[in-house]
Amino acid sequence: MDFFTVLLSLLFPFLWAFLHIFISNKVFRSSKRLPPGPSPLPVIGNILDVGNNPHQSLTNLSKRYGPIMTLKLGTITTIVISTVAMAKEVLHTNDLVFSSRTVPDSVSSLGHDRVSVVWISASAKWRSLRRACSTELFSPKRLDSTQSLRQKKMQELLDFVEERCKKGEAVDIGEAAFTTALNSTSNTFFSLDLAYYSSDRAQEFKDTIWGIMEEAGRPNIVDYFPVFRGLDPQGVRARMDYYFGKLLKFFDGIVEEKLRLRSSKAESEITNDVMDSFLNLLINSQLTREEVLHLFLDLFAAGIDTTSSTVEWAMAEFIHNPEKLVKTKQELQHVIGKNGKFEESRISELPYLNAVVKETLRLHPPVPFLIPRKSDNDVQIGGFVVPKNSQILVNVWAMGRDSRVWKEPYSFEPERFLEGHDHHKVDFKGRDFEFIPFGAGRRICPGWPLANRSVHFMLVTLLNNFDWILEDDLKPKEMDMSDRFGLTLKKSQPLHAVRTKLRT
Ligand code: HEM
Repeated sequence: MDFFTVLLSLLFPFLWAFLHIFISNKVFRSSKRLPPGPSPLPVIGNILDVGNNPHQSLTNLSKRYGPIMTLKLGTITTIVISTVAMAKEVLHTNDLVFSSRTVPDSVSSLGHDRVSVVWISASAKWRSLRRACSTELFSPKRLDSTQSLRQKKMQELLDFVEERCKKGEAVDIGEAAFTTALNSTSNTFFSLDLAYYSSDRAQEFKDTIWGIMEEAGRPNIVDYFPVFRGLDPQGVRARMDYYFGKLLKFFDGIVEEKLRLRSSKAESEITNDVMDSFLNLLINSQLTREEVLHLFLDLFAAGIDTTSSTVEWAMAEFIHNPEKLVKTKQELQHVIGKNGKFEESRISELPYLNAVVKETLRLHPPVPFLIPRKSDNDVQIGGFVVPKNSQILVNVWAMGRDSRVWKEPYSFEPERFLEGHDHHKVDFKGRDFEFIPFGAGRRICPGWPLANRSVHFMLVTLLNNFDWILEDDLKPKEMDMSDRFGLTLKKSQPLHAVRTKLRT
């Protein structure tokens, strides 16, 4: 091939992409019925308007362009929803047509997007995966039966913090909560620990999960210009192949071992833990081995960082607002007592702590845009047309700060969720659209019952009987409470706190 043929074949995809983008931007601009939004630049569209903290920039833009707005992110038409009424239109009135996902390139690694409960469209296969989750993992009966396993993990969290306290060292609350969430989840699913607080193997496992979080949260050029998908220019998919491969191999080893143990046991000796139930589904051909392995991958990726970041934010808010901490401690003393044993079934006896968790999720939703939905058809919303195949972002971060819905939206006031106050009947189960940190409609988070138990239990463990102060005698009001966008919304500055002696 001569030089010009090589040059042309290299340039062809770029020319093609340019033409495609040019034409689609023209069509985009000329369409009168699209929701309003900032003017897109040629080729890149509104990527610069979004910046590094999209939850904040899109909230600001919505103040100018309204509750439903359009942005062009490269070639992707993106519709941003920012109010209760519009969220209800999307997630309730038109739930079916918005029940697919826009799939980022990173999760197509090792064919994950073809079998994953998070990413496949709302098909019969998706329903069977959701059913398996709700009956085998998250039903009250199943969670009650696995509760003692989680209880042990809370004791280990306490021991770890105690040890740090003896050495006079501060605790990185987010990291400790992450390890606890990881071990609680792996015990709930496999009756097995995956990480200790300080061991090399634990570090390796944590690094793998962190790696997945980082890659999935990293802005990836191919998600704006899917025409370049095959090239993987930032190497995101290659790194994801490595992380996914590691986890899948690990889960496969557990399945193999369980199957081997089962084959050497009599029917009556087979335990009936969560893994056994999944093996039954596998043996009865209700799920394939590939589906089971990828489901575990989803559950670990979706459940751990979200849970631990909620605990870290709640602890940060407690230390930032000492008067709320005092109220919570009084409640804990009254209901549980010093050194009293706590059980998950008693969570409802702690209304103030329940309100703290809600208020934390209102101000710091771990998944600030839900997981992006996609429109399967052209749909009329709020008098505008949302075109087929648009990416839909529901900005729950903005909705939680809407002063038309929440009084003094920037202040941490758990009381608003208590009896006699404006939002006392509001819950996060997807019926009250002003507060949907777990989403709503058919794709609502299936893991919320476990998350709810784990977050409350960890907070009770960290708070009961002990005081916390900030490292280096920092004053509560001097704390940096800003957040940083990623796959989950994190504190910009990790919370390092010191546990002080028992109160008398
Ligand atoms: C505080 C903790 C958590 C928060 C705030 C959270 C939030 C969310 C949100 C916003 C969605 C998308 C919902 C939508 O599109 O409407 C979601 C989906 C999902 N979550 Fe969670 N989640 C949490 C914990 C968990 C846990 C503990 C698990 C499992 C161990 C889990 C598993 C999933 C799965 C599998 C999906 C995808 C469901 C589907 O697409 O059908 N989550 N979560």
